[in-house]
Amino acid sequence: MAKAKTVFVCRNCGFESPKWVGKCPSCGQWNTFSEEAVVKTSGITDTIFGTGHSVPVKLHEVDYKSQPRLDTQTGELNRVLGGGLVRGSVILIGGEPGIGKSTLALQVALAMVNYKVLYISGEESVQQISMRAERINRRNDNCYVLSEISLQPIFNHLQQMKPDILIIDSVQTLQDENLESSPGSISQIRECAGKLMKFAKETATPVFLIGHITKDGTLAGPKILEHIVDTVLLFEGDQHYMYRILRATKNRFGATAELGIFEMLGDGLREVENPSEVLINNNNEGLSGIATAATIDGMRPFLIEVQALVSTAAYGTPQRVSTGYDVRRLNMLLAVLERKAGFKIATRDVFLNLAGGLRVSDPALDLSVIAAILSSGVDKPIAKKMCFSAEVGLSGEIRPVTRIENRIREAGRLGFTSIMISGAYEKINMPGKEHIKVIKVNRVEEALKLLFISKE
Ligand code: TYD
Ligand code: MG
Repeated sequence: MAKAKTVFVCRNCGFESPKWVGKCPSCGQWNTFSEEAVVKTSGITDTIFGTGHSVPVKLHEVDYKSQPRLDTQTGELNRVLGGGLVRGSVILIGGEPGIGKSTLALQVALAMVNYKVLYISGEESVQQISMRAERINRRNDNCYVLSEISLQPIFNHLQQMKPDILIIDSVQTLQDENLESSPGSISQIRECAGKLMKFAKETATPVFLIGHITKDGTLAGPKILEHIVDTVLLFEGDQHYMYRILRATKNRFGATAELGIFEMLGDGLREVENPSEVLINNNNEGLSGIATAATIDGMRPFLIEVQALVSTAAYGTPQRVSTGYDVRRLNMLLAVLERKAGFKIATRDVFLNLAGGLRVSDPALDLSVIAAILSSGVDKPIAKKMCFSAEVGLSGEIRPVTRIENRIREAGRLGFTSIMISGAYEKINMPGKEHIKVIKVNRVEEALKLLFISKE
């Protein structure tokens, strides 16, 4: 028998090479090549049901509003999708194992009671799915489950059942029998995702694909999948905390800046509509090393607690440990603190932590980081009900941040009585009468002097 033709494919970007190579010439990743059987991919002219007739229409006659979005009955998901589910769209939900992707998908399936939902799992038996449904404690008489990994039977069921919504858990377990390669290989993922995309467009059925993330935080077979689907949602969070963030990194039907916040409870995911209330702890008042920042992630302002611990280094090199905040940025702020405020930090350990296990990259956190470190260093609590929202520059200047009005309003709404911001704003438009005092500062030295003075 002739030897089957094989090709080496990069698991990251799908680049093909006749020989094995250590470094991908296309995406630059190391050790990502694996051998796969050569496949003839189906051409664009094939259709799944043989009914793919599209007709050109005049652009100005297209009425996008006549296609209403489906309500997923999950406010946080609707928000990330850009206002609900678009018919015929393919949404990839990526995340590490155990983060809650299956829970989220099943919860949405059970919440959309007015639609016929088909949940296909290649990872779990229908009994396991039923156990999870029992835990979530919701019921949708129109929700069907199927444990299957082969594409052909799946399409047969789809043709018979005509579900309104399809969920595939996960895309890495799918297998097209016409291909020789194993499930999870690049050619399988590409082919299966492509066919499901075609199904979604031809039948106007929204499809959720669940995808695993590799250890280094990228989707397995990422670039290829990202190009195929309409929307990529990443489900992230720390396994040891309950909070989960759903973030859109690509969305053909909405903004990518949106994020949804959930909390994993014993009976499923709870939507967190008001993140500030869970991220700041009112019992911490009067403790040193704690500062509250008014931040914006995506489109949403919320307040988050920054905790710092400064202690004498036990061993030679002092440690700089940061959870949720960029450690290089922390090092930069420490240098600013040392140079501009004369705060001696070289022989001390610094630990920094953001509440709830969240990761925030908003530069507006800078001033609160500095405040928390100083507060811990001198062991004095920061003034009651004071919060911060400003970036700190290399020469110790306090810089303005975006959408300051929203931040001030959110701080005022949560009962803060003062907020420290940059003095560089010309005018701040605050429509309502916020009972919050705005403290403007221009330099770190100036800010640090005001930290412990209560404005109440
Ligand atoms: P799961 O949805 O299976 O994660 P994924 O599909 O992303 O791999 O859920 C993972 C974790 O969530 C699991 O450790 C159990 C926990 N969990 C709860 O805490 N509460 C619940 O109601 C459910 C269903 C799961
Ligand atoms: Mg799962």
